[in-house]
Amino acid sequence: MNRKVILYIAMSLDGFIAKPDGDISFLSLMEQEGEDYGYLDFTATVDTVILGRKTYDKILSMGIEVPYGDRQVFVLTRNPTHATGNFTFYSGSLPGLIFKLKNQDGKHIYCDGGAETVHAFLKDYLFDELIISIIPVLLGDGIRLFGQSFPEQKLKLVGTKVFEKGLVQLHYIRARD
Ligand SMILES: NC(=O)c1ccc[n+]([C@@H]2O[C@H](COP(=O)([O-])OP(=O)(O)OC[C@H]3O[C@@H](n4cnc5c(N)ncnc54)[C@H](OP(=O)(O)O)[C@@H]3O)[C@@H](O)[C@H]2O)c1
Repeated sequence: MNRKVILYIAMSLDGFIAKPDGDISFLSLMEQEGEDYGYLDFTATVDTVILGRKTYDKILSMGIEVPYGDRQVFVLTRNPTHATGNFTFYSGSLPGLIFKLKNQDGKHIYCDGGAETVHAFLKDYLFDELIISIIPVLLGDGIRLFGQSFPEQKLKLVGTKVFEKGLVQLHYIRARD
């Protein structure tokens, strides 16, 4: 399988993935019985997850089961602690990690954010695909998905889905010319 690195993330219409204090309760506006916005189908295509330490801490603070099953998980941090189970706290080169993973057999690689982590991928052209769910709310302030500068990257829109609650999901692949 040609392993792809895929960002799957949700933002407000004005481009925020969380409020300034990290609050993500705006995501619950979209909760609807029986609707997961393609999450389970998407996660069935991935066996590796990469996320930032702050997002990892946020998940822990929510007291929910870490939603990655038995997938291999890399938590980016500059202060790595020991690996636990299928979790590795990683502080090496991100391009180096992606190169290594892409040279191993496996399913796709899921970047779960947050914004600083997304920036680390973008600055080295590491995303092959982006699936961005736009939540119909203006947060006005918070953590911007695309808050820091990075090199221009052309995209091709390969899918759009509109859901009953007003979420619009955009699916892009990197256009390579
Ligand atoms: N709306 C959504 O779908 C969505 C998705 C994901 C996250 N979020 C929210 O976004 C917020 C967190 O986003 P964030 O941008 O503040 O933080 P983040 O990207 O989750 O984590 C940042 C941390 O990751 C580590 N890191 C990032 N890049 C690195 C690199 N190149 N090398 C080594 N370590 C690196 C550093 O950890 P150390 O400080 O340990 O060194 C850094 O402080 C949370 O509130 C979370 O809930 C929302």
